[in-house]
Amino acid sequence: MNAPILVFDSGIGGLTVLRELRTAMPDRRFIYVADDAGFPYGDWEEEPLVARILDLFAELIDTYEPSLAVIACNTASTLVLPQLRARFAIPFVGTVPAIKPATERTRSGLVSVLATPGTVRRVYTRDLVEAFATHCEVRLVGSPELARLAERSLLDSEASGDQELDDAMAAEIAPCFVEAGGQRTDIVVLACTHYPLIANHFRRLAPWPVDWLDPAEAIARRARSLCKPGSGELPEGFDSAHFTGGAPGYQMRRLVRGFGLEVADGAR
Ligand code: DGL
Repeated sequence: MNAPILVFDSGIGGLTVLRELRTAMPDRRFIYVADDAGFPYGDWEEEPLVARILDLFAELIDTYEPSLAVIACNTASTLVLPQLRARFAIPFVGTVPAIKPATERTRSGLVSVLATPGTVRRVYTRDLVEAFATHCEVRLVGSPELARLAERSLLDSEASGDQELDDAMAAEIAPCFVEAGGQRTDIVVLACTHYPLIANHFRRLAPWPVDWLDPAEAIARRARSLCKPGSGELPEGFDSAHFTGGAPGYQMRRLVRGFGLEVADGAR
């Protein structure tokens, strides 16, 4: 039997990675874990966040015995991947800002990275810029609000078409748009897994069209390359979602069901 793959995020952002994982590995079962009790990760100091995630994984690996874990969160991956790999025997696939592909694709040489404040602060992210963006101007934009706005936009049925929400999103993405030396930003890296959920709003609110780069498909390919070949048949049962904050409310249940996940009883 194929052991399940664990997909981890602070909230609903990892669902954008889950949908690509499913396409890449149709014969696998997935367990989606949202650390909603710790959401948003973007606000956390590094040390307590590392400790929290390591403790959580000790429990999760013990309970679910996954064959592989995908950290579908840039804020966590840019911080805690080395410690996770050192401590646990299963393979871990991370999600980190797609700076290299963006610098290969840009024509204007102006690239922006839209992330959480945590991801922007990381040495890991700064090192990626140093290593790959020698011929480009990279602007790192750490949005304090967008992950929360993404959750609100998807979970609050009254939020759609809300002018105040539009204005808030437009203000958060505005620093990504740079004009310099007769050139304009042409690529924005979506460096938080929550953001592809609201990329349709970004497209509508952007001052000019850009490429919004979502690395989810590349992450799914990487995960597949690390998995032993599956049996070719989907195991019995269902994919499940677990919440560290306990049983989620109606809107959240409905949302994750739309992604093909059953909320496990006695949600964690
Ligand atoms: N989805 C997460 C990421 O990719 C972070 C959102 C948050 O918890 O701040 O960075």
